[in-house]
Amino acid sequence: MQEPTTRENPNEDGLVETGRRLEGRRAVVTGASRGIGREIALALARNGADVVINYRSSDEDADDLARVVDELGEQAWVYSADVGEMDQVKEMKRSVEKHMGKVDILVNNAGINRDTMFSKMEEDAWKEVFSVNMNGVFNCTKVFLEHLEQSTYPRIINITSIVGQMGNVGQANYAASKAGIIGFTKSLAKELARKGINVNAIAPGFIETDMLSGVPDEVRKKIVSLIPMRRFGKPEEVARAVVFLASDDADYITGHVLNINGGMYL
Ligand SMILES: NC(=O)c1ccc[n+]([C@@H]2O[C@H](COP(=O)([O-])OP(=O)(O)OC[C@H]3O[C@@H](n4cnc5c(N)ncnc54)[C@H](OP(=O)(O)O)[C@@H]3O)[C@@H](O)[C@H]2O)c1
Repeated sequence: MQEPTTRENPNEDGLVETGRRLEGRRAVVTGASRGIGREIALALARNGADVVINYRSSDEDADDLARVVDELGEQAWVYSADVGEMDQVKEMKRSVEKHMGKVDILVNNAGINRDTMFSKMEEDAWKEVFSVNMNGVFNCTKVFLEHLEQSTYPRIINITSIVGQMGNVGQANYAASKAGIIGFTKSLAKELARKGINVNAIAPGFIETDMLSGVPDEVRKKIVSLIPMRRFGKPEEVARAVVFLASDDADYITGHVLNINGGMYL
């Protein structure tokens, strides 16, 4: 049993936890084996939710996360599926129903980048990015909607990007896919509000994960100099916002794009 956190005794992130806000709920987090998705799954579990850990190929990382969730006393179901492939997403839903039951929260987090200047961008780089970043969001939302329609606390949370809001050199494919997620989120929020399903997006700025690890040092320095807070974000900082949007505290929030970017884009 974990000790309740206080100002004198905060959690490992230096925070006072406000309680297990998602007790008894089930969440699917796509792309949860690493980076932001991993922290989202952990934060949901710390708040009492059972989690489906979706990923594509990092079996060990996904199994390791499941062990941590298990130690927290919540149920984890690990499932490898390419979110860009509708058949695999349908199979995942069947497996989730069989082993966990229906889900209440869908976090569309899986995403990839294939960065290159547009003049050199091959059709494959465009299609791959759209397959995961946009078709993945379509496929998972389409397939899990049936569960959400039956939930008392249904939430869809889509992870877009600051790059979808302001564009970026070398990322025309990625930026277009992330801008698409914003339009999708707002449209779906309007369509699903009458069913009580809240649909929101989170737009992280530059967050310290594997996605940033390939960026050369001098470029990293340049990016940091453009961030008013003068640092990259942490995956946990995105995860906390997901918990908020998934919780009852966000009951009247839908169609919102929440920036988590240290002030880089306002
Ligand atoms: N890091 C940033 O600065 C930043 C900023 C803004 C937005 N974002 C967005 O935040 C999300 C997470 O990014 P991240 O930085 O955490 O990325 P990451 O560290 O590269 O992790 C990506 C995750 O997505 C999974 N994934 C990739 N393709 C998949 C597919 N086809 N089907 C299912 N899962 C798949 C990966 O699984 P495997 O481990 O099996 O490959 C991994 O778990 C993405 O949507 C990204 O665009 C990131």
